[in-house]
Amino acid sequence: MTDTGRKLRIVKMLKILLSCGALTLVALLTAASLRTTFMDVSAGLERVPWDKTCNISFDIDPDQRQQLLENFKEAIRIRTVSFSRADLNTSALRHFDSFLHKAFPTVFSSSQVKHELVANYSHLFWVQGSRPELEPYLLLAHIDVVPASESDAWDLPPFSAEEKDGFIYGRGTVDDKSPLMGMLQALEFLLLKGYTPQRGFYIGLGHDEEVMGNDGALNIVRVLKARGVKFLFILDEGSVIMDGILQGLDGAAAIIATTEKGSASLKLSVSMPPSHSSMPPRETTIGILASAVKRLEDNPMKRLFGQGPESGMLEHLAHTVKTMKCLNYGSDLHFTTSVLRVLFSNALVIRVMERNETTNALVRTTTAVTMFNAGVKHNVIASYAEAFVNLRIHSAHSLKEVLEFVESTIGDPRVKIDIVEGFDPLPISPYDETAFGYQLIKKTLLDLYPSVTVVPGLCIANTDSRHFKDLSGAIYRFAPLWFKPGDAQRIHGINERISKENYEGLVRFFFTLLQNCDIKKLPASHSSVHEL
Ligand SMILES: *[C@@H]1O[C@H](CO)[C@@H](O)[C@H](O)[C@H]1NC(C)=O
Ligand SMILES: *[C@@H]1O[C@H](CO)[C@@H](O)[C@H](O)[C@H]1NC(C)=O
Ligand SMILES: *[C@@H]1O[C@H](CO)[C@@H](O)[C@H](O)[C@H]1NC(C)=O
Ligand SMILES: *[C@@H]1O[C@H](CO)[C@@H](O)[C@H](O)[C@H]1NC(C)=O
Ligand SMILES: [Zn+2]
Repeated sequence: MTDTGRKLRIVKMLKILLSCGALTLVALLTAASLRTTFMDVSAGLERVPWDKTCNISFDIDPDQRQQLLENFKEAIRIRTVSFSRADLNTSALRHFDSFLHKAFPTVFSSSQVKHELVANYSHLFWVQGSRPELEPYLLLAHIDVVPASESDAWDLPPFSAEEKDGFIYGRGTVDDKSPLMGMLQALEFLLLKGYTPQRGFYIGLGHDEEVMGNDGALNIVRVLKARGVKFLFILDEGSVIMDGILQGLDGAAAIIATTEKGSASLKLSVSMPPSHSSMPPRETTIGILASAVKRLEDNPMKRLFGQGPESGMLEHLAHTVKTMKCLNYGSDLHFTTSVLRVLFSNALVIRVMERNETTNALVRTTTAVTMFNAGVKHNVIASYAEAFVNLRIHSAHSLKEVLEFVESTIGDPRVKIDIVEGFDPLPISPYDETAFGYQLIKKTLLDLYPSVTVVPGLCIANTDSRHFKDLSGAIYRFAPLWFKPGDAQRIHGINERISKENYEGLVRFFFTLLQNCDIKKLPASHSSVHEL
């Protein structure tokens, strides 16, 4: 392979990488470790027959199609807003409970389904399987949404669920009421069609995910732990199908996030006896704190690209690109590990990635100064100054390392550092050909959308599923939401929306997933991973 060819390919890879920058919710492809082999995403389990144990087809009549949309719209109209941890709309959460009973009468009356409220507003469903020896799985979603103001420039009011050009607009249409309603609607239809699952499963709906999930998800975990329940896998929100976002790929890429970043919120404070501004001390609380904060901004944590879960990202991407034939390489022109090493070690490449906020978030633990408070009067030296810093922890770092770094970078004992909240990055879930959950999600997706490329990924935001890490070693964050360029900004932003077709696709996804999960074990693959 010539040097020129190599450079050309590196440039193309870079273009693809940077074109993903627009995505705020999801970061790119990832793998567990730097490997000398490529996972062949085109072969393996996609080529072998899967025995279907159940085959109920998704044919619904026009009334049911109408009902499916009406149910979804009503869910959007209920203002289940989490303003802050202490300020949830509890009357909306109660309203949502009665709405669920009304929308899914079969789910709530079926003898196969046990339902309970947890922490007053969260829900836990247990759908019993006919073969108790099969380990259950868990589907997660959350009921609450972030605020949306009627005065913001939405094309249609944010709690109206009104339609425009085939899209339903409203807060929660993507995050996270479409997966939530999709899974319950799928269960409702399946039960109506006489379905009994073989493998039992749970559905957990948290009510305060947007404000950390400490009441909802944590209490659901407590209930499940007390019962000794463990899960074969867990599926929650987190990443999506990117369509036209990865430039250079002909088709869409579904990213199944196998981990998420950790987080630390720190309070920095400086105290001093008060004094008059006519006889100021050489340094003030504000000056000391300001330079501490500046030192943190000037010294980002070192880049870890190639050391964390994204280390295999280029390998996967490279393979994907080859699979999609969009770069027209001959079959003998695979990206080799040595080319990737060149990429990893290429300071220029990394600098380009660092310059863009989104790719930067992939490369390192990020540091964001979010609040700064000091002073009460213009002629009084502030006796107290405080600032808050939020760090999102890269998978190759720990919370402890991050704290040590902040302490040594500030290097000033007058600045007190308190942890407001913090947790380590989440473990990386398996995605090889023996990973049941990953393969089932992938298989289901390909049943619906055969041309999509499925790859593992990293979620740079956090989800309720992080509270469940003791209950399963296989947690995936994904829903088949189709994102075009600009759609990521709608989440927590204005004009959040979903197409009617996409919502129905979500119902079909869960309808198919529940049935697919009835298989006892994965089919064996002929050629799984091969050396190049
Ligand atoms: C980062 O990349 C995205 C996508 O290419 C782009 O829209 C955005 O403007 C970039 N940000 C900066 C600061 O260059
Ligand atoms: C599933 O459906 C396909 C096509 O409709 C059919 O050929 C197959 O026999 C069915 N399998 C089962 C287990 O019902
Ligand atoms: C809270 O929910 C109730 C009931 O759904 C609704 O009437 C009310 O407008 C909501 N309040 C806010 C501030 O959104
Ligand atoms: C549930 O509601 C009861 C009665 O209003 C209250 O005492 C209790 O603290 C609530 N529990 C949670 C976890 O919010
Ligand atoms: Zn969410």
